[in-house]
Amino acid sequence: MHPGDMNHLVPIMPVPLLDLSQQHDALRPQIDDKVLEVMRSGKFILGQYVEEFEQKLASYHNAKHAIGVSSGTDALLLSLMALGIQPGDEVITTPFTFFATAGSIARLGAVPVFIDIDPKTFNLEHQNIEAAITHKTKAIMPVHLFGLPANMGPIMDIAKKHNLKVVEDAAQSIGALYTDKMACTLGDCGCLSFYPSKNLSCMGDAGAIVTNDDDLAAKLRQLRNHGMDGEYKYINIGGNFRIDAIQAAILSIKLDQLDAWTNKRIMHAHRYNRHLEDIAVATPHEYEYRKHVFNQYTIRVHGGARDALLNHLNANGIGARVYYPYPLHTEPCFEYLKYNPGSVPNSEQAATEVLSLPVYPELTRQQQDEVIACIKDFFLSE
Ligand SMILES: Cc1ncc(COP(=O)(O)O)c(C=O)c1O
Repeated sequence: MHPGDMNHLVPIMPVPLLDLSQQHDALRPQIDDKVLEVMRSGKFILGQYVEEFEQKLASYHNAKHAIGVSSGTDALLLSLMALGIQPGDEVITTPFTFFATAGSIARLGAVPVFIDIDPKTFNLEHQNIEAAITHKTKAIMPVHLFGLPANMGPIMDIAKKHNLKVVEDAAQSIGALYTDKMACTLGDCGCLSFYPSKNLSCMGDAGAIVTNDDDLAAKLRQLRNHGMDGEYKYINIGGNFRIDAIQAAILSIKLDQLDAWTNKRIMHAHRYNRHLEDIAVATPHEYEYRKHVFNQYTIRVHGGARDALLNHLNANGIGARVYYPYPLHTEPCFEYLKYNPGSVPNSEQAATEVLSLPVYPELTRQQQDEVIACIKDFFLSE
């Protein structure tokens, strides 16, 4: 019998992939008061609450600037705009990521150049970068996928050698470290998302860009507000990429808890590692010099059993999910880039093998035991 073909455990309670209710319940009095304060202040667009959050976020990163924006997607788009990426320019990135990474490049008429990933980390493999560089290459956009920083040392060396800009897609990795440096502070700028599934989340959409470059920060601030420099003087064509004051105020409160939440994610991840040791799955890779913040705890299931395990977990009330089922070069909207199947084999294989398990901070030991038992049950009753 194929694993997963039989009916198994009926869990004591469902285990969702993410449950924000507890973290919000715990902070409710503070958040309620703050939201009321913003409402009463009438300062909804930029102003005091946005500035407070930006200062807090910059100092969290030991960085000079943080610029609050409307989403992680807009953080990426705005970064590329501010760095002067033009139609026809090439930006090297990974196909194994959320759509927005490559979407932001293509929306400017630039060309996403997909190179393959390191199969151990799911991050862009730096050894593939130089072969992809042409006279049109202007930037590299590494993604710190699932919360593990990409190998930024060699990536930055290559970028310097070829005079390329580096935009870190740090949507999933706030608080992660590469050596002693925060993700977001290694490239020209780093982009954060505060989408509800992220380690630091707001109650809607928001994002931010972190940078140590004064000129870039000034340009980002100007472009997020239509390119305006002085009353009704538009010196660049920007857009409305502003963060809402209410979201910024909520994020200021939640940022104080981020490190404690991250520690819990790491604790859950290490507990999974210990309990899944003897099972035929590969647990996430970690490195001394790279702090993984486990936005996702993603295992690899070999031998074509991933979908059966996913179904088994879901049937038993466990909110496992596949991030991401299709590498971006196979998406219909990128057909014009003319990638053939097999052109980025590690990414294609990862898409058939990855499975993310619940790892949110408030996950209880009992819930995690249910996830572990359900996985063991699947493999051991083969
Ligand atoms: C890797 C990655 N890049 C970009 C984004 C876009 O962020 P947002 O949803 O805030 O636009 C996300 C999150 O959704 C993401 O996971």
